[in-house]
Amino acid sequence: MIKIPRGTQDILPEDSIKWRYIENKLDQLMELYNYQEIRTPIFESTELFARGVGDSTDVVQKEMYTFKDKGDRSITLRPEGTAGVVRSYIEHKMQGNPNQPVKLYYNGPMFRYERKQKGRYRQFNQFGVEAIGSENPSIDAEVLAMVMHIYESFGLKHLKLAINSIGDSDSRKEYNEALVKHFEPVIGDFCQDCQSRLHSNPMRILDCKVDRDKEAVKNAPRITDFLNEDSKAYYEQVKKHLDDLGIPYVEDPNLVRGLDYYTHTAFELMMDNPNYDGAITTLCGGGRYNGLLELLGGPSQTGIGFALSIERLLLALEEEDIELDVENEFDLFVVTMGEAADRYAVKLLNQLRKNGVKADKDYMNRKIKGQMKQADRLNAKYTIVIGDQELENNQIDIKNMETGESESIQLDQIVDYFHK
Ligand code: HAM
Repeated sequence: MIKIPRGTQDILPEDSIKWRYIENKLDQLMELYNYQEIRTPIFESTELFARGVGDSTDVVQKEMYTFKDKGDRSITLRPEGTAGVVRSYIEHKMQGNPNQPVKLYYNGPMFRYERKQKGRYRQFNQFGVEAIGSENPSIDAEVLAMVMHIYESFGLKHLKLAINSIGDSDSRKEYNEALVKHFEPVIGDFCQDCQSRLHSNPMRILDCKVDRDKEAVKNAPRITDFLNEDSKAYYEQVKKHLDDLGIPYVEDPNLVRGLDYYTHTAFELMMDNPNYDGAITTLCGGGRYNGLLELLGGPSQTGIGFALSIERLLLALEEEDIELDVENEFDLFVVTMGEAADRYAVKLLNQLRKNGVKADKDYMNRKIKGQMKQADRLNAKYTIVIGDQELENNQIDIKNMETGESESIQLDQIVDYFHK
């Protein structure tokens, strides 16, 4: 038997109804904030991620699904959404759009070859936003407010927003030098990846999955002590906005994020449920990326965004015992007795559905009792039973399954009945 690939999942109807609910709600929230949907390809040229996300990140070095296509081009299944959206912004010269910042959102599958764990998949679905074209602390605040609004609108309460600033490139230059100095004497105890990143990208040592619990990581210099005046001022203004908005947050000076494009504001939203026993607690992450557009050959615009996975959102809802108010309603189940009634029902259903009535009938030659059970399983609001007599008299009892009450109506008036 051929099994589903490791780290992927089938979303079966009882779950896809939840996905649809979540996705619809997210679409509605995006309208409130004036963000518009963008759809970019699921695969991009490998170079986009190598440059954008960063050559020495775990994502690029270890987790990408990369292959050569038949034209010998190196292609990668997108591991995240920001690089593709930024590429599209540049390619479509969106900097020329008079509505700046350009506020975009996306929702689709991403791929990372990671070790499977609760809440960690190899194909997962990210919903994300990118606001590109403005370097104003109030847009950082808007993005953070949106993150909180999203989770709160699903009724989640046990949340912790961690924020940090990783400064501008000048601040980071000094910081990187300090990190090299700090780690150099002990780097022999670190994994091969950390050793090779010491000089090229020492910040990545801080979020190495192998070494992150080492003492030298815990007492490493902190970026916040290296922020220059501009970076500090920017961070302070973002925090002021959060205070004005009454958004609670904790400052985490160790939060550096795992992708290279970040500058200034960086944040993660964590599950803060004391009973949660899974290892994965990060629901959502994001930040500002001031150099990314230029790095990808674009204009000197800046951006900020975040992404969350629907899988982890569902996990958090489960943890907090939150049931989504998914619509599970069905209008009419047509119970039939005999061949003539069944034939009539085929036509009737066709008519009902074309008039917007959700209706179904039996296709398994069930007895009446079995058909009624099927109506129950479907949660049908109404049922009718058609037999030879009903056909002959053009009269039918329509039963409201919620109240148990029946009403006698003309069979050929049933579409009208639903319209009324
Ligand atoms: P990221 O932190 O790599 O950031 O991923 C964002 C979110 O995607 C995570 O917080 C988590 O909810 C989800 N996620 C990541 N990997 C997995 C996985 N293997 N299984 C399930 N869920 C996962 C980014 O991707 C950035 N592009 C976010 C961003 C947008 N920054 C600026 N704009």
